[in-house]
Amino acid sequence: MNRLKEIQLKLKFFWGSLFYFKYTPHALLYSRLRDNIERKFFKYSTEKGFNKPGKLTHTELTEKGANFYFELAELQISFLTEELIRVDWKPGIPPIPYGIARKDWQDVKTHVEEIENGVSISSAKLKVIVKEDGSLKFCDSSGQILREEFAPSCKNEGWLHQAQLRQEEQIYGLGERFSSLNLRAAKDEKQQPKTYRMWNYDAAGMYGPGSDPMYLCIPVYLSLHSSGSYLIFYENSFDAYFTFGETAVANFEGGSLRYYFTYGTPAQLLERYTELTGRAALPPLWALGYHQSKWGYRTEEKIREEARAFQERNLPLSAIHLDIDCQVGNRAFTIDPDRFPKLGSFTQELKELGVQFIAILNPGIKYSRHSNLFLEGQILDGFCKLPNGKLVVAPVWPGWCVFPDFTNPKVRAWWSRQYQYLLDVGVAGFWHDMNEPAAFIAWGDRSLPKVTQHYMEGRGGDHREAHNVYGLLQAKAAYESLCQYHPQQRPFIVSRAGWAGLQRYAWTWTGDVECTWIALRTTIATVVGLGLSGIPYSGPDIGGFQGNPSAELYLRWFQMATFFTFYRTHSSNNVEHRTPWTYGEPYLSIIRQYLELRYRLLPYFYTLSWEATQKGYPPVRPLFWSATDEPELWSVEDAFLLGEALLVCPIVQEGARSRQVILPKGFWYNFWDDTALEGSQQITIEAPLEQIPLFVLAGSILPMEEKKQLILHIYPPVEEDSRETVLYTDAGDGYGESRVDKFGMTRSENGLEITWTEEGKYPFPYKSMSLHVHGIKLQQVWVDGEEVTCTGQILEFPNLEGGDVSDRFHQVRIQG
Ligand code: NOJ
Repeated sequence: MNRLKEIQLKLKFFWGSLFYFKYTPHALLYSRLRDNIERKFFKYSTEKGFNKPGKLTHTELTEKGANFYFELAELQISFLTEELIRVDWKPGIPPIPYGIARKDWQDVKTHVEEIENGVSISSAKLKVIVKEDGSLKFCDSSGQILREEFAPSCKNEGWLHQAQLRQEEQIYGLGERFSSLNLRAAKDEKQQPKTYRMWNYDAAGMYGPGSDPMYLCIPVYLSLHSSGSYLIFYENSFDAYFTFGETAVANFEGGSLRYYFTYGTPAQLLERYTELTGRAALPPLWALGYHQSKWGYRTEEKIREEARAFQERNLPLSAIHLDIDCQVGNRAFTIDPDRFPKLGSFTQELKELGVQFIAILNPGIKYSRHSNLFLEGQILDGFCKLPNGKLVVAPVWPGWCVFPDFTNPKVRAWWSRQYQYLLDVGVAGFWHDMNEPAAFIAWGDRSLPKVTQHYMEGRGGDHREAHNVYGLLQAKAAYESLCQYHPQQRPFIVSRAGWAGLQRYAWTWTGDVECTWIALRTTIATVVGLGLSGIPYSGPDIGGFQGNPSAELYLRWFQMATFFTFYRTHSSNNVEHRTPWTYGEPYLSIIRQYLELRYRLLPYFYTLSWEATQKGYPPVRPLFWSATDEPELWSVEDAFLLGEALLVCPIVQEGARSRQVILPKGFWYNFWDDTALEGSQQITIEAPLEQIPLFVLAGSILPMEEKKQLILHIYPPVEEDSRETVLYTDAGDGYGESRVDKFGMTRSENGLEITWTEEGKYPFPYKSMSLHVHGIKLQQVWVDGEEVTCTGQILEFPNLEGGDVSDRFHQVRIQG
């Protein structure tokens, strides 16, 4: 970097940082106030609690299972399906089912039996043994023990719950974490198992190794073990601490101890967990493209320039995100009329370039008589209050703010209405920031006082319970608004905070990550972990948020993010303006190739999105997803799968031009040169600057598109085998017809056979199609029984336009 540029960057950093310092007096004052409030209103619990629930006195059968009465507690076991159960320990405040999507479960046939020192209750697939002392055992239908729980204890309204962990047991999930993928492997400074907190938390500008908690905590974890894997979801939104050492410990500050248990493969666990907590709706197709963002786009002109700069450089772009700079005084739902004088026509102008306008908003409302939102919310009595009825006031970007109580349905309905006029002028989506909710502090907790009162759907509660669902409920209000006001368009909302079920309403991004190589690497575990916690759409600020990445770091980050669902560059206001062309050549040309690859891969991404609506599978998956019997994959955290077909191995070290890769079982084709490699082995693979190691599973068909043409990349099985690939298409937005094309591929002694069947009413949207065959040399080809000639490895089907399927095939046979 030359001297001048260095000085420029330092100045930028200095000015940008002043922005933060402006809030220092507020932060100091608020921290003092908050401490005083907590002291004044905090009431020690008078609940006695118990160390052990006492002895089992009697059992009572229920429609879904049984109730077990102990001397000091009550336990209810309900079978929601044969493989999914709900466990409820009482006493405690029952949760409001914010995280739950499905409530209508059919009755399951269960069998209750007295056994030595306890009672067992079972369905055809799952058995729970309840011991006289309140300890539980969960077994599969073969009697294999999957989980052993100690009797819980209850103190000061909170619950301590522990389970024995098996040797070699791996733990994943807990929502957003910046840790090892296997959460059990991480250690604290004292080399003890790391403790993870369940309290949505603003990293306030930058986070790096060791940061915990993060913005989006979810009390769900997946346990992987060769003798049976399971998933636990605690339906308890209170502050909590989790540790995974010899035992799995969950320590909740309040609420009741309600949790769900299911066992099976990772795919089955995610399918069931998302049946319970809901699945993400299909996003608009454009959302899967590239997004450009910057804290610092202040004017319409600047954005126009940015969109044009993408065009001039032949770089595809789907959306631009506007940060708080576009607002009046950083206030939610405002757009500065001087700097954006013709918003309606401007969003239209961008749409014509294929670019959507996304606006940020924060939940904190300026506490001022000159703020309409404040006045409206006050009339509704809709802001969070202290136990003495006074408003909770805390500093965020607009200055002193009040906070809508999203646990009140009236407040959600009012908030929903606010999106309408921005939608009407063409804003295509919303970016919810600072919604943990975050407040500026000098010390202590970065949120509202825990004694803050919430409506909680009428039953009342405090911030200890409402904090973690705050962002979720804001997203719910926004989602319902977008569905209501623009029913022909699919909602697009990105939320920084959330809880179980956020996937029903919003995507997320991984916040203010530092610009380092270790951050790039750890982001893989963060995104994969979010997926295993039910959140399929996430991604980092490419290059990191705080700091100036080197050209190489930005490039490597870009390459990796090409295969994440949310693909966005964003950066802080005190760093160099960051775009794909910031670093000049050769970086720009390489980034262009990745952007183009992403857009070519959209049919694949879109089909994975559709699969997520059907099954809840995250598109970005750990390597063990379909190979839980390969322990060497359990801790791989520097690579990931995109769907079933792609294995992505990012470069996570400065200067590296090769890396080691563990290939899961099966055969894999090197995407860049088609070499077939046998799985279940570790290899070293070249990674020049323009490539990250990328492999395609043999037996896959990778659908890609280019200029309205569908290209099916055929990666034949290496041995005799048969697989099916589906391709989902529809109009890309709205709720019209859709279609699923199914391509079967069989390798046998007769060669390779590819079949095509279709379902659904949406006409085939491509003008033409071609098959690109990798891995075997085409010699003779028959289409529906007739021999055809083909050039090289490509087979063309040119006339498919407008749904005319006269040139479609039913069967292609290839002799290689
Ligand atoms: C914090 C967010 O994490 C970041 O992405 C955003 O740029 C700033 N707030 C300013 O709005």
